[in-house]
Amino acid sequence: MAITKEASNSNHNVLPVRYKPSAREAFRQIIQQINFKENEFLLLPAYIGITDKEGSGVFDPVRASGVKYDFYKINEKLELDYSDIVKKVKEKKIKAILVIHYFSFFQVDIVKLKQLCDAENIALIEDCAHAMNAYVESHKMIGSVGHYAFFSIHKYLPTKDGGFYTYTGTVTQGQDGSNGEEISHETLYIAHTADYNAIKTRRIANYNMMLSLLKSPGKKYSILHSNVPEGVVPLNFPVLIHNQNREKVYFKLIDKGVTVMSLYYRLIEQIDRASFPLSYHISNSMLNFPIHQDIETKDIEYMSKVFLSVIDEME
Ligand SMILES: Cc1ncc(COP(=O)(O)O)c(C=O)c1O
Repeated sequence: MAITKEASNSNHNVLPVRYKPSAREAFRQIIQQINFKENEFLLLPAYIGITDKEGSGVFDPVRASGVKYDFYKINEKLELDYSDIVKKVKEKKIKAILVIHYFSFFQVDIVKLKQLCDAENIALIEDCAHAMNAYVESHKMIGSVGHYAFFSIHKYLPTKDGGFYTYTGTVTQGQDGSNGEEISHETLYIAHTADYNAIKTRRIANYNMMLSLLKSPGKKYSILHSNVPEGVVPLNFPVLIHNQNREKVYFKLIDKGVTVMSLYYRLIEQIDRASFPLSYHISNSMLNFPIHQDIETKDIEYMSKVFLSVIDEME
């Protein structure tokens, strides 16, 4: 190969990228790219939340596109149920499958699923909105297995907007029409200059410290992921509160100054309660503690101490 003055090969483990104002806008444009026909379905995980204030980051683009959709099961760790996906692929004309890497704990069956998608001519879309800067086995960037992947910058960095998508196939220029909104220059600047290594180290250390302080969950609560697999950069620290005590614990923590979230506490009504009871059980049980890069050791100690005392008061 000729020796050149400047690098011109864009193929150094980097996927092409399109910046957008948000992850939902990136997802909307991926759906447009896929060009669903009348009888073709988009298969979604049966764990998608909605709030009055923010709508549904995952479902709003699906609804707006008018494509037909169906859901597949997830297990008690929010992992995809591969056999349920295979069942749905046999039953219906599935054109695309969405996989969500919840809280950055990547879906371990993604490679197996990609093989199925390739064999059945299905587009695989990875929702990496919770998983900036994470990687899967063998240091593959998260999102690089599927045909498309989308990310949310503002969930990871202190920006007011920001998302992007990557793709392994070709993207038709004409179909990637923006709706007029663009990502802000401030966000791009922050995204390009952030100290990703320091952020990753802090988030993992915070998660592990929380794990060590809450190490003996029992009948009253459990921890969704009791270790951080290599490559994961956690979004937050999810715990499951047992005995229908989630609301009580949530409000007691807020009262005591512990800012805790309950992500996906309400699922979209299109997910049928009778068909997906486990999804509703998880949604009714989860609390998420912040462990982002601004959280310090003393904050983790305080949150854990208050949480354990509140849990002690529960039946
Ligand atoms: C899994 C998941 N995907 C996508 C989104 C949308 O992200 P954004 O707020 O950047 O549109 C959200 C949050 O709303 C989400 O939780």
